[in-house]
Amino acid sequence: MQDTPQTLSITRPDDWHLHLRDGDALASTVPWSAAQFARAIVMPNLKPPVVDTAQALAYRERVLAARPAGADFQPLMTLYLTDRTPPQEIARARASGAVFAVKLYPAGATTNSDSGVTDLRRVHGVLEAMQREGMPLLVHGEVTDPEVDVFDREAVFIERHLQALRREFPALKIVLEHITTSDAVDFVLAHDARDARGAPLLAATITAHHLLHSRNAMFRGGLRPHYYCLPVLKRDSHRVRLMQAAGSGDPRFFLGTDSAPHARGAKEADCGCAGCFSALHAVELYAQAFEQAGCLPRLEAFASHFGADFYGLPRNAGRLQLRRQDWTVPDSIEYLDTCIVPVDAGATLHWRVASATRA
Ligand code: DOR
Ligand code: ZN
Repeated sequence: MQDTPQTLSITRPDDWHLHLRDGDALASTVPWSAAQFARAIVMPNLKPPVVDTAQALAYRERVLAARPAGADFQPLMTLYLTDRTPPQEIARARASGAVFAVKLYPAGATTNSDSGVTDLRRVHGVLEAMQREGMPLLVHGEVTDPEVDVFDREAVFIERHLQALRREFPALKIVLEHITTSDAVDFVLAHDARDARGAPLLAATITAHHLLHSRNAMFRGGLRPHYYCLPVLKRDSHRVRLMQAAGSGDPRFFLGTDSAPHARGAKEADCGCAGCFSALHAVELYAQAFEQAGCLPRLEAFASHFGADFYGLPRNAGRLQLRRQDWTVPDSIEYLDTCIVPVDAGATLHWRVASATRA
């Protein structure tokens, strides 16, 4: 055990896929992410969704106002793509300097996706503008066809839609978000095209819970709603492939927590919401997954380098220090006038964030 490192120091990481919600919820959510991450790509699936640049700028101000005193956390905003998004919105978004991507939710695929895209043909003009402007498309990659088995929806989306999208817009920057299958890993690995800066044109984010858990976690001794998210956890062989991809040092795979706060009562219900909350302990969860897989030395690039490189942003100057320390994930944290049960509540984690420095 002598060689076991007791501390870990990495470049300050960023979260390339995060849900913060809005209004009073921001006071509960923003501080958790600001404690670990320097920047985050903030999802636009509010009620109503963030569909234009003016709304994104206003939402950005509300997120900034919820930062704890002295925090330097930077929200990187996104637009929610709808059938009616005008192609001219992309140039406005780019010119704002505050919008970094556009999110594609197939209508009905997940939480607050009702205003999403009903048919990709309806947004071809917008995708052309995004390809021209170098604006990344972030894809929730699941078909909504109720006939398709819920565990197959990602693989079927790749086959039915993503292959064609990649062919029709060869220079569009695409992130396949929160991937859950070996099919998604294979799809990313099959595309090695780069943009003018040498950054990948196709990449994927991976959550900590999809690296740590298979679908068994949802059914261990009963029905466990706090492990229910979309895309849903898959069988363990998929998890193993995701971990191999995340730990491989390939710059096309990087960190995105998909931390998605839902009040306890909204998940422990007869029709519980999809989403796992991991902002509280995100880096610790990833460290646990990488260490279990024997690739802890590759955590830094996955968490702190590859995402920034993909988006053409500088890597952070600050550092995040972790120390080896067993601690128990709290059973709940405060949220509005209720609480959230974090993913892996009650479990013992072996790494703990000790401090973050700016530069
Ligand atoms: O589990 C999920 N929760 N998946 C999503 O795509 C959305 C998210 C949310 O907003 O709660
Ligand atoms: Zn999400």
